[in-house]
Amino acid sequence: MEKIVHKKKQSKRKLSKKNLLTILILTIVVCSVFLHKTDIVFNKKSITMKGAFQEDYSSNNAFKYSNFDIQGTSWLSFRDVPKLINKYVHGKKTLDFGCGAGRSTRFLKNIGLNVVGIDISNEFIKQAHRIDKSGKYILMKNTTVPIKNNTYDFVFSSHVLLMLPNKEELNKALSEMFRVTKKDGTCIIVTGSEKMHAFDEKWVSYKTNFPENINPKSGDMVKLFIKDCGAVFHDYNWTDEDYSKAIKQNGFEIVTRHYPLGKENEGYAWISEKRTSPYILYVLKKPEEKLAALN
Ligand SMILES: C[S@@+](CC[C@H](N)C(=O)[O-])C[C@H]1O[C@@H](n2cnc3c(N)ncnc32)[C@H](O)[C@@H]1O
Repeated sequence: MEKIVHKKKQSKRKLSKKNLLTILILTIVVCSVFLHKTDIVFNKKSITMKGAFQEDYSSNNAFKYSNFDIQGTSWLSFRDVPKLINKYVHGKKTLDFGCGAGRSTRFLKNIGLNVVGIDISNEFIKQAHRIDKSGKYILMKNTTVPIKNNTYDFVFSSHVLLMLPNKEELNKALSEMFRVTKKDGTCIIVTGSEKMHAFDEKWVSYKTNFPENINPKSGDMVKLFIKDCGAVFHDYNWTDEDYSKAIKQNGFEIVTRHYPLGKENEGYAWISEKRTSPYILYVLKKPEEKLAALN
């Protein structure tokens, strides 16, 4: 009888030791998961930015983007460009700054301009060459255009400034565009309006209802899913005020701003596009007097 009681006591002790061990292991596992999660949340911004850069400039995204034509909401950003060129551009020698997979370069070529596309991404330049074998495309390093001052009658840049993450990059891009534009030459910039990434807007081609798009400040990272090509891009929500400041600081004069809106019978069932423009187009001039400083 005594033996049985002793055995029972022993097994109870064993059991409680086992339980203690299990509890200890579980605690360690839970704590490490929690700490790991906290670490990710703590470093969320840097992880997101690094991941975003890799995703946006990956060969996969470049390929998806190369299948993206001038269509849907994006078509609106190009619709009025020929009219603006007719009105403000004199001469055909053109640079497409940030040509991507060549969509904008081919557009400019098709309307009769003599155009060279330039980009900082090898993956995008590869796609441009693949689609347009006879086209002229240059890869540039550090946003430095390997071309001498005052070369182009017309510098065009579409959907590029909204990809620039800080004011230094904005200034670098604009100063290079200014430098290579001829005296009295024209520059047209097509970029996102302050509403393009707004959480509440409903565009034909874009999905924007992501948490990072709720009330962003100027320069904040925002997210865009392009339904037409299935690619996600992480852009920056610059205000007109910041764009205008950077444009003027780098020597350009703003001739006009244009906000294209969707109209009836354009072949698209426009949603927000009917009342809000997702884009802002800047027509810029390089004034003659600024040239004295450059020459
Ligand atoms: C969304 S794509 C637009 C391409 C083309 N312009 C179009 O409308 O289809 C943006 C392009 O800007 C390029 N880009 C980003 N930062 C740049 C920079 N600092 N200088 C020049 N190009 C840049 C990217 O590599 C990418 O190819």
